[in-house]
Amino acid sequence: MPEQLSNSPSRGLHIITWGCQMNVYDSARMADVLRPLGYSPVDLPDNADMIILNTCHIRERAAEKVFSELGRLRQIREARKLEGKETLIAVAGCVAQAEGKELLARAPYVDLVLGPQTYHRLPEMVARIARAGGSVIDTDFPVESKFDLLPEEAAPQNEGNLTAFLTIQEGCDKFCSFCVVPYTRGAETSRPVASILAEAERLVASGVKEITLLGQNVNAFHGDWNGGTASLPELASLLHEKIPALKRLRYITSHPRDMEQALIDAHRDNPIFMPYLHLPVQSGSDKVLKAMNRGHTADEYREIISRLRQARPDIALTSDFIVGHPGETDEDFEATMQLVRDVRFASAYSFKYSQRPGTPAAGQPFQVAEDVKEKRLAALQALLREQQDAFNASLVGTVQDVLVTGLGRKPGQLNGRSPYLQPVHFEGDPSQIGQIVKVRITAPFTNSLGGHLHEQEGTAI
Ligand code: 5AD
Ligand code: SF4
Repeated sequence: MPEQLSNSPSRGLHIITWGCQMNVYDSARMADVLRPLGYSPVDLPDNADMIILNTCHIRERAAEKVFSELGRLRQIREARKLEGKETLIAVAGCVAQAEGKELLARAPYVDLVLGPQTYHRLPEMVARIARAGGSVIDTDFPVESKFDLLPEEAAPQNEGNLTAFLTIQEGCDKFCSFCVVPYTRGAETSRPVASILAEAERLVASGVKEITLLGQNVNAFHGDWNGGTASLPELASLLHEKIPALKRLRYITSHPRDMEQALIDAHRDNPIFMPYLHLPVQSGSDKVLKAMNRGHTADEYREIISRLRQARPDIALTSDFIVGHPGETDEDFEATMQLVRDVRFASAYSFKYSQRPGTPAAGQPFQVAEDVKEKRLAALQALLREQQDAFNASLVGTVQDVLVTGLGRKPGQLNGRSPYLQPVHFEGDPSQIGQIVKVRITAPFTNSLGGHLHEQEGTAI
């Protein structure tokens, strides 16, 4: 890193993050690697010497959204130029990976294009531009894993530093017909266990009580450990044994095919696992599941759910659904509705299928008409919403462990997080922030719960 950069006074860094939690995490790590160059976060792009647009390729018209946002950033850059200030514009994330060259061709004012595997090289790229000018594009899948090269100083991301995400796995080898991830994030790689433990220890030492382990296919995790590898339940045991102050553990996102019995058993045996699992199924029709290359049937999914419920009767399930995958008929869609009725979800995400260039499904015949997709999505979402309301209502009268995350909006009110990730509001004392307390749930809302501190038993830890 050149001398003049490392000694530079504070420079403004503004990162715009779209998409999944993995991107939120990556944005935090980009800020980490840029800190030694003098960059510190600013709230407004107008005050930033460097603006990073961290993009997501999952949603519809992703590239178009990127170009329109870049148009806005270009104006900011020009306004700053009139004041004699330079602004670096970088595009990161999955759209950068998928459309790097196209991006520079259509938006030549972009200085830097970097794929999700190259964030650790960001300081070097910035230095190169400072020296030679021009644009830099870096979307390789390097031989070394970025996990080995990023600093391990990640800061907790939200809710008063009590909860944090921690990436343990990246990439995916599943190649679902509709999905860009195997192309933009590359092959599945796992982070070595020692490095995960080190980061988890630091997070917990800084006050974190709840960690969500992240990965595109997180339950396929197999990180190096003791000359061999450790699986996700083994990693969870290590976290529980070695870091007693870590109270809660979650993981996202899982694939049904990697939901092995040892992991299911861990939901019963490891007390830090929350009784909550996000397990995307996408469709309830065997024909569509096959076309999607999911590698399991609807009944196999039902069977996994029933083993999970046997192991942990209070487990709540969430999922992802796609309606209108090429070839999906009314009958196939009805099979999805039936699966939802059978399983009963606590909440779920559902999407209309949208074509991703370069993925197998995009080229398939029998694309489903837009108005049909819309109708199916509305019906599915109505059913899922009913189930979410029913789940929240079923908690009324129960006493839940709530991690108190901060002050509520009303005076005297506290906010917390239930085992099922619902925000909970109740009256309490600010000294309880950071503790896990018992709350009797009294009011169900669609996206949150109201309750009262459970007497005598205020503090659970
Ligand atoms: N169209 C619609 N939804 C998609 N997803 C991924 N790719 C597509 C696509 N091409 C959804 C899946 C996945 C979630 C993260 O996004 O349901 O689980
Ligand atoms: Fe994409 Fe998930 Fe399928 Fe991997 S398992 S290809 S990330 S949808």
